Amino acid sequence: MASSLTKDAAAQGNPASGGKTFFGHPRGLATLFMTEMWERFSFYGMRALLVLYLISGGTDAKPGAQGGGLAMTMATASAIYAVYLAMVYLLAMPGGWFADRVWGPRKTVIIGGCVVMLGHLTLAVPGTAMFFVGMALVALGSGLLKANISTMVGHLYDGPQDPRRDGGFTIFYIGINVGGFAAPLVVGTIGQSVNWHLGFASAAVGMGLGLLQFIIGTRHLAPLSSTVPTPLSIEERNSWLRKGLLWLVVAAVFYGIVVGTGTFTLNWALIPIALLGLIIPVSVLARIKRDKDLTSAEQTKVSGYIWFFVAAAVFWMIFDQAGSTLSGFAEKNTADTVFGMHFPSTWFQSVNPLWVMALAPVFAWMWLALAKRLKEPSTTIKFAIAMVMIGISYFVFIVPMGMSSDGTKVSPMWLLMVYMIQTMGELCLSPVGLSVTTKLAPEKYASQMLGVWFLAVTAGDCIVSLLSTAGADLSGVGVLSAEATLAVLAGLAIWLNRKKITGLMGDVR
Ligand code: PHE
Repeated sequence: MASSLTKDAAAQGNPASGGKTFFGHPRGLATLFMTEMWERFSFYGMRALLVLYLISGGTDAKPGAQGGGLAMTMATASAIYAVYLAMVYLLAMPGGWFADRVWGPRKTVIIGGCVVMLGHLTLAVPGTAMFFVGMALVALGSGLLKANISTMVGHLYDGPQDPRRDGGFTIFYIGINVGGFAAPLVVGTIGQSVNWHLGFASAAVGMGLGLLQFIIGTRHLAPLSSTVPTPLSIEERNSWLRKGLLWLVVAAVFYGIVVGTGTFTLNWALIPIALLGLIIPVSVLARIKRDKDLTSAEQTKVSGYIWFFVAAAVFWMIFDQAGSTLSGFAEKNTADTVFGMHFPSTWFQSVNPLWVMALAPVFAWMWLALAKRLKEPSTTIKFAIAMVMIGISYFVFIVPMGMSSDGTKVSPMWLLMVYMIQTMGELCLSPVGLSVTTKLAPEKYASQMLGVWFLAVTAGDCIVSLLSTAGADLSGVGVLSAEATLAVLAGLAIWLNRKKITGLMGDVR
């Protein structure tokens, strides 16, 4: 599926071929595959437990479910979950910067992996403070790791023209989804059925295994992965340190006053972070768009890109609720037995990766068959389809939501169907989105654009967080249909403006 994932993100090729291969690919791909598989295993494992742990012991928990959680309401849990995900993707940008200017991709990934592991180990210790510190560490570590490991896949090939490159990214994406599929089955089951903290600890073990693989296989990686492309000068470093310290002092004084005067509530942290998660993406795009260094052709392309970016934000806004709104529904309103056998509700979190693995080959075949007849839809049309799909998934979701209002447990088939429709949308949007991001990127911002793409996820998640803190019921038919309508309208807007958008894209298709 990710045949075009980060296509040109690391265009400076540095083939590390020769010697043993991995399915006909450089041996280093196996190392990156295993590392990302385990990182995603720990990430999605923890994500499957997150909301259930937060509501456990509170009024919104399922009667009879394991206690020992933080007893929050579903609204607060959803807001925390969304802000956490937003931060993971926001931090991909500084993660890329650290690799570019300070440590180089290889070292950044090792440091990121250690921080992620430490984060999960912290979550393994009970307590509210430990929980928030652990979550911050996981977000920080994932930010350092996620984009850089994709960049290193690119380094294994001889530039964007290497015929094996697309296949390499597809194999890598399978690694992501194998990890995402296994995580809820292992981490989810242990955490939900045995003990939350043991579950988080098992996520740490997963990241540890990934890190070990990475360190052992490090000699198979491209030499380019160990270099720092544009090292930071001493003056720049000092200026960054000064600025960082200043902001830290400002934040410390501000929160010192809020806490000191006894006014602090969780919203004092959630709302500013969620607002930042909206302000930063908008200002980054505005800065790129207004940059005087860009040629007029580049500027036009950025205008075209903004269409895709906004659509993607709406898409991820719905898609990322898989672990909150959909997870809550799986836990409380869906039958948890098939053929008389009981299963934990976190298993539903394995459904999306399973659909990705099942449907990605079908989509690859379909695009190829359509291309042969010169009928493959353009990026613009694929985006429009994705938006309509994610909208439909929520319109479908309203049906079981209504059926369960009298306490009826609905068939698991409903969630399987909702996830299937969402995955079909994902396969139309996610890989093409990454590809079009790198293709429309102005030269000056080439190495940062992957981080910009992830900012669409940040923006979408922050909208959800703000909605939840403002008191909107994310599981209510009103909000669900509003989100679904918004997505369908966004799809329609793209479709109606397809000629305009294609015009803005210039030579990019
Ligand atoms: N599931 C994929 C991954 O974890 C794609 C994805 C990226 C989905 C970002 C949502 C947000 O890499």
